[in-house]
Amino acid sequence: MTKRLFSGIQPSGTLTIGNYLGAMKQFPELQEEYESYLCIVDYHAITVPQDRLKLREQIRSLAAFYLACGVDPKKSTLFIQSEVSAHAELAWMLQCVASIGELERMTQFKDKSTGKESVTAGLLTYPPLMAADILLYGTEVVPVGDDQKQHLELTRNVAERFNKRYNDIFTIPDIRVQEVGARIMSLQNPEKKMSKSDDNQKATIFMLDEPKKIEKKIKSAVTDSEGIIEYNKEEKPGITNLINIYSGFSGLTVNEIVSQYEGKGYGVFKQDLADLVVEKLKPIQDRYFELYESEELDDILDEGAEKADAVASKTLRKAKKAMGIGRVHLKRR
Ligand code: TYM
Repeated sequence: MTKRLFSGIQPSGTLTIGNYLGAMKQFPELQEEYESYLCIVDYHAITVPQDRLKLREQIRSLAAFYLACGVDPKKSTLFIQSEVSAHAELAWMLQCVASIGELERMTQFKDKSTGKESVTAGLLTYPPLMAADILLYGTEVVPVGDDQKQHLELTRNVAERFNKRYNDIFTIPDIRVQEVGARIMSLQNPEKKMSKSDDNQKATIFMLDEPKKIEKKIKSAVTDSEGIIEYNKEEKPGITNLINIYSGFSGLTVNEIVSQYEGKGYGVFKQDLADLVVEKLKPIQDRYFELYESEELDDILDEGAEKADAVASKTLRKAKKAMGIGRVHLKRR
């Protein structure tokens, strides 16, 4: 049987090149090898306040991005999380398996809740929902960026606990992270992850940025005063991040890039990198705008939800039975 893959992205803002290089870029290649379930995780997005109208647009936008980046609906099942109700149901059940202590230890929860006056319960129970996403599909592989490692570890722990406590029904998933794109950093502070929600607009390249903007952001990216193109995360995090971005978009290895730019300054490198990013994003952007407006997109999502539901509801049924919820049906005993 073909191995199953699951991944999800939050529709919480325009995609960044971090999302692309860390996750999205892998999907078209992996769909050739795996039965892929790719999800727009809108339930995850509402763990923090969202503007209703914007959120709906972002959901559609993310669907268009998946396809524009090369996800083929004939090979992958693309769907919206809230359209497959098993996700919310299993999430509840897994909340009753996970402990508050382990959820409070999640660094994402700490980052998003520290200093906030009011934090939703959903922000704390986010990881069991993510575990439900993954476990519903008998997933073996989860391609994500480095920042999701801890959530994946929790998913594995919760699944193992469930299997031991109730019945052995969940497949234990493995994480898959890219070698170079796993953690793309902010262009303004290379110690920090590039993020959709950075207050400093210059820190992040968005997938829909225009050429001039991309060039400006790359040229003003923080590096160091040495002017030597060298890969060294600790001592030269700024240029190292730019090399990673170069590698992610070009397919060249870090060593190939470093030797290609030996003796050349940051100015030349940054210009070439800007040209490369613009060139690679152009076809994705063109296709994106076509798809966003097309009815084809709705058909793909309808079909995706139906296919996902068929698989997910089967697993949900097994999980309910294992936990002993629902009724003993005399005719089906
Ligand atoms: P999200 O929406 O924050 O990010 C989507 C994907 O992009 C990756 N990513 C990055 N990769 C490299 N460098 C970066 N700077 C960077 N920023 C983001 C993320 O690692 C992710 O792969 N909890 C998940 C969504 C989710 C999910 C799932 C993922 C919900 N359920 C089930 C996999 C399986 C999240 O918030 O991703």
